[in-house]
Amino acid sequence: MDRDDVPTNPHAGSAPTIGDLIARRWDRRGALKGLLGAGVIAGLAPQLSACAGLGEARASAGGARFAELGRGIDTDHHVAPGHRADVLIRWGDPLFPGMGPFDPMRQSAADQARRFGYNNDFVGLVPLPPRARGEQRALLCVNHEYTSAGMMFPGAAGRALTAGECEIEQAAHGGTVVEIARAPGGRWRYLQDSRYNRRITASTPMELTGPAAGSPRLATAADPAARRVLGTLNNCAGGITPWGTWLMAEENFNGYFTGAAAGPEAANHRRYGVGEGGRPWGRFDPRFDLARTPNEPNRFGWVVEVDPADPASAPKKRTALGRFKHEGAESVVNRDGRVVVYMGDDQRFDYVYKFVTADAFDPRDPARNRDLLDNGTLYVARFDADGTLAWLPLVHGRGPLVAANGFASQADVVIEARRAADLLGATPMDRPEDVEPDPRTGRVYVMLTNNARRTADQVDAANPRAANAFGHIVEIVEPDGDFAAERARWDILVKCGDPEVARVGAMWGPGTSRDGWFAYPDNVAVDSEGRLWVSTDGPEEGMGCANGVWTVEAEGPRRGRSTLFYRGPTGAEICGPRFFPDGATFFAAVQHPGEDGENYPPHGRPSTFADPSTRWPDFTPDIPPRPSVVAIRRDDGGRIG
Ligand code: FEO
Ligand code: CA
Ligand code: CA
Repeated sequence: MDRDDVPTNPHAGSAPTIGDLIARRWDRRGALKGLLGAGVIAGLAPQLSACAGLGEARASAGGARFAELGRGIDTDHHVAPGHRADVLIRWGDPLFPGMGPFDPMRQSAADQARRFGYNNDFVGLVPLPPRARGEQRALLCVNHEYTSAGMMFPGAAGRALTAGECEIEQAAHGGTVVEIARAPGGRWRYLQDSRYNRRITASTPMELTGPAAGSPRLATAADPAARRVLGTLNNCAGGITPWGTWLMAEENFNGYFTGAAAGPEAANHRRYGVGEGGRPWGRFDPRFDLARTPNEPNRFGWVVEVDPADPASAPKKRTALGRFKHEGAESVVNRDGRVVVYMGDDQRFDYVYKFVTADAFDPRDPARNRDLLDNGTLYVARFDADGTLAWLPLVHGRGPLVAANGFASQADVVIEARRAADLLGATPMDRPEDVEPDPRTGRVYVMLTNNARRTADQVDAANPRAANAFGHIVEIVEPDGDFAAERARWDILVKCGDPEVARVGAMWGPGTSRDGWFAYPDNVAVDSEGRLWVSTDGPEEGMGCANGVWTVEAEGPRRGRSTLFYRGPTGAEICGPRFFPDGATFFAAVQHPGEDGENYPPHGRPSTFADPSTRWPDFTPDIPPRPSVVAIRRDDGGRIG
């Protein structure tokens, strides 16, 4: 998360609530703007409430086969007994031959652009053939969502950044492709000398493709043809396509632009929160100054496709998938061969989308899949109270998406996807984050992280709680496993929060323990038995637990039962849950460890470079905490879960 607290949908409410205060306070770590003290949930009187049993009985898939981890908050990370969590790669680790170890006192943009970036979020795997017997290899694709200058640079907390620091920040954004390997019985390691290793930054040249490519609304003085963009920003979650490319989702791109929204794009910019930016890049780089480059924000907010097997390839911004604050882009091959990409627009009162390709995936001919994401239909979800769901097509000329409403072409529809979805009557949701299909069952899981701004008169069936401080998970059931369908059904899997506090209104499956409940669902992986592995991002004082990973049963009599598997160090959110295909390694990204150290009572004050609440994972004096990817395995090497 980075600056995603302010609703920009005109449907949004304005009265702050208790949950709003919790969420706003937490957001200070990104925006330094919350001013509320601790104890905002102290008024929530603990009262017993039943953990509701959910749903009809489905075929039993068994329960979590590990001893549950205990909840808590401390400076280190922890995994359930019988497992080990090893740090695989950290902010600053070198990615090219001949480079030495990271020295945080000697940073430069050129050096950072050759090292693992900051605030790792999405984690994707593209398996490679082994080079030795029993060896496992893969390309690890990792997003670097945003930077935390006060934690990265000595003395930067509370002062204006220098131009050089802004350049380092740009180089620490984007993503990393790095080869990883594991010998039989050994630990995963990354290969510093792999020819595949690559950094993508906020300055990497990339192409615009699809309906908005060439639109005058994307043209700038530096790119009058509107075909070539520099860089990608705020890449949150993402996806790996069936053809082995990596989708990077551009989320809170609005925060990078300096100045007030004005001129012909002003209303469009307001709908996306552009003009509220807190970052100073625009003082040094005209691309991020709205007065000088008013169309630049239209060149962000897309899904970016990268071919990790070709480090020289230009990433492509696939505009057919719409422009919004993309959280993720997880895909599935439909039974007719078309590919369906599920996407959340992570803002309070924004929407859930899917994109269905026009053409079928061809597993035998990679060239035919290269531009599959340029043609297809973008849909937005309307969740009806009777448990049905309508996928509403965002197609120029259909319904209200016509010139009279300012949509002269499909380019306008995708550039202003949010306004198009408003007009179609999509359902404003409680911050849709990861949306993950389970190809095995035809079900799709939507993480709704929270929405404390929802008022009682804005409650609907799919967003059933006012002041939803803790989030919930919605399950979409596409009919007969047809992921391309335009009608579906939906249900609520869990309502998050402490089940012992009645006014929270939590709902968990039977057997969920005091360690097993969580809040703020953000990212998710679905394992081969249909269980969800949910990672969280929210204020740990609201959970009484560091952010972590919980496994949630989705089928059978224990549907909705949740079990704590892993928790990160204080201040971190956990992202990118991803299984290796054999199920024996579970990867996760630990983002912004130590950030907002005042959540951690022994520290009790905002973390800085010199004074962080944790120095995870190095625990070395003078080395600040480092966002890192961890690899978790069972002690006996077996399948996890
Ligand atoms: Fe970047 Fe929606 O979390
Ligand atoms: Ca998040
Ligand atoms: Ca996220």
